[in-house]
Amino acid sequence: LASTEVDVSSVQPGKTITVLWRGKPVFIKRRTPEEVAEARAVKMEDLKDPQKDEDRAKDPEWLVMLGVCTHLGCVPLNDKGDYNGWFCPCHGSHYDISGRIRKGPAPTNMEVPKYEFVNSNTIKIG
Ligand code: FES
Repeated sequence: LASTEVDVSSVQPGKTITVLWRGKPVFIKRRTPEEVAEARAVKMEDLKDPQKDEDRAKDPEWLVMLGVCTHLGCVPLNDKGDYNGWFCPCHGSHYDISGRIRKGPAPTNMEVPKYEFVNSNTIKIG
């Protein structure tokens, strides 16, 4: 199937779930207000791949992105690294709470796929 629907009603604030879409892991993180504030306070000049959090997370509470390191494709670890986001153990890339690359060899932010809320509990990816 080209798209997949995910029930996110049981995801607690601050938690991340991983689902498969087209054979790839997709991270769905329900962010706390503090995490959103942190993501939105980052200055564009501090980013290797400048992208506003507002453009990555349409609904700030929900971050949806491919759980694939943009260096060589490993799956980064949740809630790890120096920027309160993700850490790729393969070669040490650190991503922030918006999934943006902050340190290490990865060239770009983790990719945000096409997705939409079908209703308040369901995200359709693809
Ligand atoms: Fe993630 Fe190399 S694959 S740092």
